[in-house]
Amino acid sequence: MAAFVSALLLLGASTVVAGPLFPRQGAAAVTVTVTAAAPTSTAWDAGAVHDYPIHASCNATQHAYIKKGLDETMLICSQARNHILRWGNTSEIYQKYFGDGLVSEPLGWYTKIVDGDKSDVLFRCDDIDGNCEQPGWAGHWRGQNGTSETVLCDLSYEIRKPLNGMCMFGYNVANGATNFYWASDLLHRLLHIPKVSEGVVGHYNDEEMDKYLGVVSLAKMNSTYAARNSDTLQYFALEVYAHDVAVPGIGCAGTYNPLSFSTVAPASSASAVVGASTMKTPAAASATLVTAAASAAPTEACEPHGNHWHCPPGVPEPTSPPA
Ligand SMILES: *[C@@H]1O[C@H](CO)[C@@H](O)[C@H](O)[C@H]1NC(C)=O
Ligand SMILES: *[C@@H]1O[C@H](CO)[C@@H](O)[C@H](O)[C@H]1NC(C)=O
Ligand SMILES: *[C@@H]1O[C@H](CO)[C@@H](O)[C@H](O)[C@H]1NC(C)=O
Ligand SMILES: *[C@@H]1O[C@H](CO)[C@@H](O)[C@H](O)[C@H]1NC(C)=O
Ligand SMILES: [Zn+2]
Repeated sequence: MAAFVSALLLLGASTVVAGPLFPRQGAAAVTVTVTAAAPTSTAWDAGAVHDYPIHASCNATQHAYIKKGLDETMLICSQARNHILRWGNTSEIYQKYFGDGLVSEPLGWYTKIVDGDKSDVLFRCDDIDGNCEQPGWAGHWRGQNGTSETVLCDLSYEIRKPLNGMCMFGYNVANGATNFYWASDLLHRLLHIPKVSEGVVGHYNDEEMDKYLGVVSLAKMNSTYAARNSDTLQYFALEVYAHDVAVPGIGCAGTYNPLSFSTVAPASSASAVVGASTMKTPAAASATLVTAAASAAPTEACEPHGNHWHCPPGVPEPTSPPA
């Protein structure tokens, strides 16, 4: 049989098709209507990259976590976009975060992230800058060492929550950390990449204020910059997803409560251990805040931003600069 087949192959395709040994089955019954050929694709988007690249230094499990996290970033950004498209500035959530600002700019950021080309953005796992050894480091933008690159440290796999857990673990938008979920943590990291941010998205809320208050205040005072504020884009996407998708019609916006910005870890023992070992918070402070633990917000580690730190209220800045 094998010899027969290879002999046929040697004869060449045209011989095989035309040969009397191979009549076209059912040929008599088929009426072929020949229409004008559709214009062939010009391949205008040849080489488009539809998923953010994950570096080969990420092993199978790390790759799976990051891929899922990025998929969830796409979900919250896509819902944020759809919410704006449907309700525009009549949405109360929109007004809360973007004030009287035009819808086109936030719409643009979310659309770029969901549907834009994703080349020249890289997530890597090799700790190439040697930062992951430091306590509390869950990852960092590479800054001048690689402006389009983000390093994720192993701590991320332990502390970031999946989107299925939206409004769980005591989280609510007003009091929770914006990096509590993979989805919003990776959104923040994407917004540091120049290709995504165009050098325009940045950190514009008043650093003297708690982050949530700063964001809400920016919407009222300076809506032009609210639309470009990384934290605003994260909060809005989280609150919309919670309200529209996770707990439909209800969400978990929460009411801001300065006391709940504690460093009390979520109840789960595994997370509690991570929180305790990374936050370096004086035990006494944690202890007093435990009494308010019913509404305790999840922990948030300090995040490096180029050459400086962003720390949640009450969490001391690391003594060494990030870069
Ligand atoms: C991937 O790396 C992590 C952290 O370095 C490790 O814990 C895990 O076992 C590795 N997974 C695989 C499949 O090698
Ligand atoms: C919403 O947008 C419309 C049209 O641009 C504008 O006239 C209106 O003032 C805006 N409303 C708010 C609350 O920003
Ligand atoms: C809005 O914020 C930007 C960036 O911080 C600042 O340059 C600008 O002056 C502010 N505009 C107003 C009206 O406060
Ligand atoms: C960039 O690389 C240098 C040299 O390896 C390192 O000291 C520095 O911390 C890195 N910067 C960042 C932001 O990681
Ligand atoms: Zn940032």
